[in-house]
Amino acid sequence: MTAISLSAIEKSFGATRVLEGINLDIADGEFLTLVGPSGCGKSTLLRILAGLEAPTSGRVEIGGRDVTNVRPAHRNLAMVFQSYALYPHLTVAQNMMTPLKLRDLSMVQRLPFLGPLMARGAYRAILGQVEDTAKILKIDHLLDRKPGQLSGGQRQRAALGRAMVRKPVAFLMDEPLSNLDAALRIHMRSELAELHRSLKTTFVYVTHDQAEALTMSDRMAVMMDGNILQLGAPDEIYNNPRDIRVAEFVGAPKINLLPGTLDEAGHARCGEMVLARAAANGVVGCVTLGLRPEHLALCDRGASESLSGRVAHKENLGADIYLHVSVLDGAQRLVVRVSPVEGAEISIGETRSFHRLHGQAMVFGKDGKRLDLAVPASEVAEVA
Ligand SMILES: Nc1ncnc2c1ncn2[C@@H]1O[C@H](COP(=O)(O)OP(=O)(O)OP(=O)(O)O)[C@@H](O)[C@H]1O
Ligand SMILES: [Mg+2]
Repeated sequence: MTAISLSAIEKSFGATRVLEGINLDIADGEFLTLVGPSGCGKSTLLRILAGLEAPTSGRVEIGGRDVTNVRPAHRNLAMVFQSYALYPHLTVAQNMMTPLKLRDLSMVQRLPFLGPLMARGAYRAILGQVEDTAKILKIDHLLDRKPGQLSGGQRQRAALGRAMVRKPVAFLMDEPLSNLDAALRIHMRSELAELHRSLKTTFVYVTHDQAEALTMSDRMAVMMDGNILQLGAPDEIYNNPRDIRVAEFVGAPKINLLPGTLDEAGHARCGEMVLARAAANGVVGCVTLGLRPEHLALCDRGASESLSGRVAHKENLGADIYLHVSVLDGAQRLVVRVSPVEGAEISIGETRSFHRLHGQAMVFGKDGKRLDLAVPASEVAEVA
């Protein structure tokens, strides 16, 4: 079932067009990430979904209901921001109670005679809900502390807890981990993904960090300049980017982009290396070839169909070593992943050769669109 549907969403601030007609359907229970570089419109889209910003045109539906003109409070969505926005003078428990107390308060105001009756029972029910939520988030031992007495990760969990007690239709999160240090951010990624699996509620998550998007999402929408360039599962986006900008944005270290040529037979070459066979669709001439660092491997010096160059830098990450190699007469840098054993034998300044691993290369046309996707694997193997 579709939980959220955004149709033809456009947004301009004065003369500046920020969103250029976004169409996006988010399934019930899905973890969907909006990812892209700073300023591409991710937060604006999320704020339009939350009702904090009105679209210039387009339609927002939640659970099949048109909510384009519905106030944020009536959309039953919970928003978690980068800044935790906890009340500093209240304990964790009191912070987590706030949304429920506000909801009860509005009911008491509408039906005043219920007030005294409700007060006691409601408080107990609220406290029970808060305790249950705190247990899921493993902060039940911190309920009496104030935000100032918590670590960054605990504060983030308290903010999540406050969003969770309301049992919203969906959680909207805008860079909720970016205030945390690197190690905690990586830890919280798996916690959030686990939380999503146990809650089975829709998550719409905004980040500029491609690693967060790849590790947590069911699907990710890669945004640039107010458009969604590609929408798909993380492995689809990583392995089959349809646009050179998506290929470059996703993956660290970045994909190697090399100048190449495409001949009539559809062979894409870069120097000596025949890289791939593209569904050229009549395209002949200059193309850009994309090779991820893990899709290259060391081979014998000067082997046929290899690229050779001087090793300029060795980046040791422990489990992997990335060689930075100066190729094509020094005109281009190639980053290649090797194992620590291979890397240990290579000295900076040495000339080494590399070939591509079977079937692993991408061909992009002048307009940045992928040219080789339609080629069956068997044909690619023929050339390899
Ligand atoms: N209220 C506003 N008035 C004018 N321009 C705005 C307003 N809000 C956002 N913008 C502009 O809209 C564009 C998109 O902003 P948005 O906050 O959606 O980007 P983002 O993708 O979330 O970026 P970041 O990763 O830096 O948070 C930016 O160029 C921004 O300057
Ligand atoms: Mg933003």
